[in-house]
Amino acid sequence: MRTSARKRTSRLRLLSFLAFLTYAAGVAPAVGAGDAGRGHAVFDAAGCLGCHTDKKNKGAPLAGGRALKTPFGTFFSPNITPDMKTGIGKWSDDDFVRALRHGVSPKGSNYFPAFPYPSYTRMTDADMLDLKAYLFSLAPVAQANTPHDMDFPFGFRFPLVFWKALYFTAGAMKDNPDKSKEWNRGAYLVEALGHCGECHTPRGALGGAKTDMHMAGTRNGGHGEIVPNITPDKQTGIGTWSTGDIEMALSIGMLPDSDFVGGSMGEVVTNTTGRWSKSDRRAVVIYLQSLPAIDHKVKKDKPKDGGGNNWD
Ligand code: HEC
Ligand code: HEC
Repeated sequence: MRTSARKRTSRLRLLSFLAFLTYAAGVAPAVGAGDAGRGHAVFDAAGCLGCHTDKKNKGAPLAGGRALKTPFGTFFSPNITPDMKTGIGKWSDDDFVRALRHGVSPKGSNYFPAFPYPSYTRMTDADMLDLKAYLFSLAPVAQANTPHDMDFPFGFRFPLVFWKALYFTAGAMKDNPDKSKEWNRGAYLVEALGHCGECHTPRGALGGAKTDMHMAGTRNGGHGEIVPNITPDKQTGIGTWSTGDIEMALSIGMLPDSDFVGGSMGEVVTNTTGRWSKSDRRAVVIYLQSLPAIDHKVKKDKPKDGGGNNWD
């Protein structure tokens, strides 16, 4: 059977019209501007997987539902797969950038900083768009979100307006022209993607990061953990660690005393720092070693005899 050129053109037009309708009806996620391949690397460097996956209950990757306990109640991470109904499949590029840059949902409500947008705000637009393209290249998973279970009155979103006014500054990080390319890459990995300060910088009474204690550790970490001082202070931080020591801790989680990092840092190594390239880890070490040394003791002393575990 022969089809005339005209017929073929009109069939093509019909097909693309149908494709447009499907898209307009919200059946398929919209194609954005980013590059999914590059976005995969951003995704790994930023550690999105852990919080958004309920690994304990064998939940599907990124389908949410992971309980994140805080002193104010329990957050349940949302589904960030491109599912049209239960995930973020309907989000435009602008919606996604607004969520990460400004901590605001497509409907205009403020997010709780349990979603570490105070760090992610420092990402470049390009990285955010690539990240979205990667997320949208994954299989959608239909799984409804679990509402947060916050103690009264912490579940209200309106006080977040005041919190943000006090503690949150939106905006991508700019390179420091006085520093090397490597240093700037390290700064970006630590401050924007790796969001190390979300745990390693102590917080004040209202949960804002104490900027004068940047990376100096805390005894009251998010999960009731002791989070070590990672500034180059020789007594209380990691000032005596060699470059190789720090690289080893970030790549496989092994510490200079041959112990392994535990708790939430174990997850950070698996989902984030262990996935960085060698050169990225090197850049991070250069940056960490350049931080101001802060004398702040948070860790208990190891037993002097050096034998066995420190059980308390
Ligand atoms: C420390 C845990 C944590 C990490 C890491 C994390 N998130 Fe989240 N995320 C959350 C929580 C909790 C919320 C819900 C916040 C709220 O309800 O106010 C959230 C909300 C979101 C939302 C809004 C979803 C919606 O339905 O409104 C998006 C999008 C999102 N995260 C994407 C990401 C991406 C992309 C990354 C990695 C760059 C990431 N998250 C890393 C905990 C996390
Ligand atoms: C979710 C919270 C969290 C995040 C995010 C986090 N850390 Fe940690 N980190 C910890 C905890 C908790 C420990 C202590 C682990 C232990 O007790 O075994 C730790 C330990 C460490 C140590 C070992 C220090 C020592 O004295 O033993 C280094 C180095 C470190 N983190 C670097 C980083 C870097 C770099 C980043 C950012 C890429 C980062 N961490 C992000 C919670 C976190």
